[in-house]
Amino acid sequence: MSPQEWYGCFRHSWQNLLVPEAFQHPGKYNRGVLDRIYDALQEASYLRPGYTIHDPFGGVGTAARRALAAGYYWQGVEIEALHVAAARANFRLWQEPWMQGTAVMFHGDSREDNGLGPESVDVVMGSPPYDDLLNSSGEGPSARHDSKHHRPENSRKLSSAPNYGATPGNLALASSRPRRPGELPEFDRDALLILGQCRRLLRPAGIAVWVTKDYIRDGRRVPFSDRWEALCARAGFVCVQRVRAMLIDPPAFQLALDGTATPAYKQYKSQWRRDAESKGAPRIDHEDVRFFVKRTEN
Ligand SMILES: C[S@@+](CC[C@H](N)C(=O)[O-])C[C@H]1O[C@@H](n2cnc3c(N)ncnc32)[C@H](O)[C@@H]1O
Repeated sequence: MSPQEWYGCFRHSWQNLLVPEAFQHPGKYNRGVLDRIYDALQEASYLRPGYTIHDPFGGVGTAARRALAAGYYWQGVEIEALHVAAARANFRLWQEPWMQGTAVMFHGDSREDNGLGPESVDVVMGSPPYDDLLNSSGEGPSARHDSKHHRPENSRKLSSAPNYGATPGNLALASSRPRRPGELPEFDRDALLILGQCRRLLRPAGIAVWVTKDYIRDGRRVPFSDRWEALCARAGFVCVQRVRAMLIDPPAFQLALDGTATPAYKQYKSQWRRDAESKGAPRIDHEDVRFFVKRTEN
């Protein structure tokens, strides 16, 4: 399956669309990426008015805005009280007569069932945090996804950690190192509990969408997106579509008077990351959006 490429996602920001406290969240979706996901789900009839979307990593509820406008029921589960409060403030901000849908943010732990019934949701949509955020060196949590206030790449710094939250059970705090040989690392164990809950909640013909990104740690590229896909497979999902949301514009060339062509294209990355990449650091040119269905039991 060759990945599709989406260009132009990172030109949008959340400016004036979120309450000020929501900008503290270091791992928000990018608005343009969300729009493309909603468009794709609507086009393929995975979403129709009245359908239910579940986000186990609710954050400040950014994904609910488009759901409200389109007449969906959006429910998120978020472990950090600070983010729950910001999400609920966003929902109040977005109350307009033309908003047809409903948005609810539960304060809870997605490893648990949170009283939600089996096969009650049509779409699972989420963006998991990176593993081992507080114990590692290098770059931090999941994408900040806000190209205006935080360049997408900026989100990866460890300095993002204090705003991330420290409640036990927060997947961002889970270690990737097995405690004993043969034992699953804490991150995998907790991710599998969360994915198991998502599988239980999703109706048989529903779809799950995950936004992930590889990151740099200790100078190396960590293939986080493939790791998340492998965890999904282990939890009973099959990947049906891979998309790359490009952090660069389509390659273009500048022609000099002498006829030589040099690559010239806009990159939606921090200056810091562009400098590091120009000095030989591994390049990360896209976020990943991957679509999954439930594997049927034999
Ligand atoms: C990458 S962020 C997602 C942000 C969200 N997409 C948005 O745009 O606001 C991941 C979120 O998952 C939350 N989280 C981590 N572990 C969790 C758990 N076990 N249950 C519920 N939420 C969790 C974190 O607190 C964080 O807000």
